[in-house]
Amino acid sequence: MANLQELTQQFIQQYGGEASDIAIFHAPGRVNLIGEHTDYNGGYVFPAALTFGTTLLIRKRSDNQLGLATTNFPASKQFSLESIHFDESDDWMNYPKGIVNELLQGGIVFKNGYDLLYHGEIPNGAGLSSSASIEVVTAYALQSLEGLPTDTVKIALLAQKSENEFNGVKCGIMDQFAVANGKKDHAILLMCDTLEYELVPFDSGSYKLVIGNTNKRRGLVDSAYNERRSQCEQAVQDLQDAFPNLTLLGQINLEQFNSAKHLIKDETVQKRAQHVVEEIDRVLQSIKALKANDLQQFGLLMNGSHDSLRDLYEVTGVELDAMVAAARLVPGVLGSRMTGAGFGGCTVSLVHEDSVEAFQEEVGRKYKEATGLTADFYVCTIGNGVERIV
Ligand code: GLA
Repeated sequence: MANLQELTQQFIQQYGGEASDIAIFHAPGRVNLIGEHTDYNGGYVFPAALTFGTTLLIRKRSDNQLGLATTNFPASKQFSLESIHFDESDDWMNYPKGIVNELLQGGIVFKNGYDLLYHGEIPNGAGLSSSASIEVVTAYALQSLEGLPTDTVKIALLAQKSENEFNGVKCGIMDQFAVANGKKDHAILLMCDTLEYELVPFDSGSYKLVIGNTNKRRGLVDSAYNERRSQCEQAVQDLQDAFPNLTLLGQINLEQFNSAKHLIKDETVQKRAQHVVEEIDRVLQSIKALKANDLQQFGLLMNGSHDSLRDLYEVTGVELDAMVAAARLVPGVLGSRMTGAGFGGCTVSLVHEDSVEAFQEEVGRKYKEATGLTADFYVCTIGNGVERIV
């Protein structure tokens, strides 16, 4: 957690005034444990909130301006609440602007503006949901200070909508949902079609979740992501010959899929759909394994997930594959997979606590040999979703 006193001083340097009327909020990043590329197919995901994320210091202004600044680099700007629009050159500021825009469209009449200072601890472009974290903390803070209800499921939906519409990224609901609704030491089993969810205690005993950052920025992720989405939609259309009411792949189980997959004529589309239906099944098997305290089995399912994302969904790439391959060779590792959208970003591995040091050393070395890139590692603890701190 960031040093709040220091951040408060930085806020005062940026905007002036006193410490006493500054409110402070925090939203985490997230790691998805299993269930990848299933959310926009109405399937299950199983993410958890991290203990690091975005801290937001915020205070009302007397005019109708929105002041945005960050401690991460020298960037600050003011916007009039009356003319909020997307501007590529505003970079990350489009996330808070998107939230304000969504609130305005939802009928909120701001009586005054706000000054906001963001302190981000999530590495950018690592696939740990830095954008969802900014969106959710902004929505939660503004709703709270406006005296409006802070229903965290609704906030997740609002944040997703602003990312889809204002920022033009067609993401599913997983990231915003996890960031808004996470709970310390729990992972979230979320059914993305109905948004029914269960907080599942995640007790990995002497095993740790270790996140490995490939530091490969997720290049062409948006176009490839959208292409996967349309391939899934194509698969649904083809399968409608057998299931006329089908609207999302998550609505059929593996057995039903296998009996009808011959209807999907395009081989690539069939592979994509096979991944989705099997991955949803792996999430359900994972919950069973965890409830039976069978971490070995959970590790195998993590491996199965990565292999399917590599071979069927084809969203891994050399960096993620090299890191996962190196991880699986370390004694004491039960499973390793990519997490998030893919094409770079992070892996997550289940590693015995006695092996964590060797893991970082060995995986880091082999990964560098294979790719020339330097990896970063974070031993992960599961934290809370968005909350007010001060
Ligand atoms: C990104 C998206 C999520 C989800 C994952 C893949 O993180 O934002 O909605 O689709 O990719 O599981």
